[in-house]
Amino acid sequence: MTALRGFARKAMGGALLAAGAVTAYGLSRPAVRHALREDLDTARRRDPAARNDLVIAISYPGLHAIWAHRGIHRLWRLPEGRGQIPARLLSQAVRTLTGVEIHPGATIGRRFFIDHANGVVIGETAEIGDDVMLYHQVTLGGRSMKQEKRHPTVEDGVVIGSGAKVIGPVVLGRESAVGANAVVVKDVPAEATAVGVPAKVKFPQARPVDEEGRPTPDGLLTDPALWI
Ligand SMILES: CC(C)(COP(=O)(O)OP(=O)(O)OC[C@H]1O[C@@H](n2cnc3c(N)ncnc32)[C@H](O)[C@@H]1OP(=O)(O)O)[C@@H](O)C(=O)NCCC(=O)NCCS
Repeated sequence: MTALRGFARKAMGGALLAAGAVTAYGLSRPAVRHALREDLDTARRRDPAARNDLVIAISYPGLHAIWAHRGIHRLWRLPEGRGQIPARLLSQAVRTLTGVEIHPGATIGRRFFIDHANGVVIGETAEIGDDVMLYHQVTLGGRSMKQEKRHPTVEDGVVIGSGAKVIGPVVLGRESAVGANAVVVKDVPAEATAVGVPAKVKFPQARPVDEEGRPTPDGLLTDPALWI
C-alpha cells in the first residue's frame, strides 16, 4: 500500500513536471502566445461574465479542453499512427478534468469557445471552422458504426445552444445557429436558425415577412423545401 502511494505521488509529480515543461516550451513560441491571446479575447467577447485574463485562464474548463486538444491533436497526427494511443489516453484524462470530451482526431479552427463546458462531446470526424461557439451539453456525434466521416461539419461562425445534439455527417452552414436542446439530423443552411426536435429551420437568412414587409405572425416558413 505504501509502495503504491509512493508510486502515485511520483507519477503525479512527473505529470505536473511534464505539464510545466510543455507549458513553458509552448509559451516560448510566439505563435502559441498569439493563439492564447486570441482565446482569452474570445472568452471576453463571448462571455459577458469574463473580465480578467488571469481568472479566465485559470477557471474556464472549456479553454483548458481546447488548449489540451491542440497538443493532443498534433500527437494524434504523428506518422503511422504512433501517437494515437497516448493521444486517446490523454484526451480521456482531459475529459475527467474538464468535463469536455474531444476526440483527438477532431479538427477545430481558431477562436473556438465552449461556455460552461461540462458535458460537451465532440466526435472523431467532426470538423469545426473558425469562431464557433458551443454551450454546455452539446454533442457533435455520429450515427454510423462504420469508420467513415460520421460526425458533423460546423462551418465558421456557428453558435450551438446548450443541450443541442447534432448527429451524423450534417453540415451547419456558416453563421448559422442551433437552438438550445435542438436535435439536428439534417443540414442547416448558412445564416439560418434551427430549433426543436427534430430541428427545423425557423429563420433562414432573416425572419419571413409578408407582402408589405411585416414579419409573418408566427414566423414559420411556408416553403417546405426550406425545412430541414
Ligand atoms: C435559437 C436561438 C439562437 C434563437 O435566438 P433569436 O434569433 O434571438 O430568436 P428568438 O429568441 O427571437 O426566438 C425566435 C423564435 O424561436 C423560438 N425559439 C428560440 N429558441 C428556441 C429553442 N431553443 N427551441 C425552440 N424554439 C426556440 C422562440 O420561441 C421564438 O418563437 P416564436 O417566433 O414562435 O415566438 C436562441 O433562442 C437559443 O436557443 N440560443 C442558445 C442560447 C443558450 O444555449 N444559452 C445557454 C446560456 S448558459
